[in-house]
Amino acid sequence: MKQWLFTGMLWLVSMGMVLAQHTKEIKEINKPTMKQNILVAFFSRADENYAVGYIEKGNTQIVAEMIAAELGADRFHIETLNPYPASYNPCIEVAKREKATQARPAIKGDVRVEDYEVVYLGYPNWWGDMPMAVYTFIEKHDWQGKTVVPFCTHEGSGLSGTERRIQEACSGARVLEGFALRGSVAQQKPEEARMAVQAWLQKLQN
Ligand SMILES: Cc1cc2nc3c(=O)[nH]c(=O)nc-3n(C[C@H](O)[C@H](O)[C@H](O)COP(=O)(O)O)c2cc1C
Repeated sequence: MKQWLFTGMLWLVSMGMVLAQHTKEIKEINKPTMKQNILVAFFSRADENYAVGYIEKGNTQIVAEMIAAELGADRFHIETLNPYPASYNPCIEVAKREKATQARPAIKGDVRVEDYEVVYLGYPNWWGDMPMAVYTFIEKHDWQGKTVVPFCTHEGSGLSGTERRIQEACSGARVLEGFALRGSVAQQKPEEARMAVQAWLQKLQN
């Protein structure tokens, strides 16, 4: 009788251990970790912009570089073949037209998204949406089984529901909650930006 009890307990303990290990593995698979093959793909425009004047490096690019440095990830800058006007007002007009017509501006080069498990996708908020070139990029690739982590810079509108649009556009991907930061903070207060990025990445690991 004692032996049966002992064998039963041993069985329960080992089943518990197997279950705990299995749960841990599932969690490991589902969260972006340092060990995974990570790409930071981003759109970002330098030149004249709202709240920052003329800048040499785009706000989103600053955040993208911080994320890539923290995670040891590769980077891909989504750039259009035809550059946007350097001045702010003409640029917002071009972007407005592109959004109204759901344009898909051609982009320079490409990256093998298929080689990565996790893609951090960065963009500025343009008219409450992503720049149309980000859709061009998305539509060139197969997102099945990928984890996509959106991040954006903005001047007040935040993510504007772009996570949902990414989920629709990246068929078969798991899209995580996004991160939004004011572009002027990225540009003018890099330490504040870095701390916000680190805190967000830390939260993603938990
Ligand atoms: C064409 C255009 C449209 C924009 N539309 C918005 C907007 O709707 N909401 C917002 O908060 N910021 C808007 N902005 C500001 C940008 O989102 C912000 O400056 C961002 O940090 C720019 O990032 P970048 O330097 O990486 O391109 C717009 C800027 C541009 C150039």
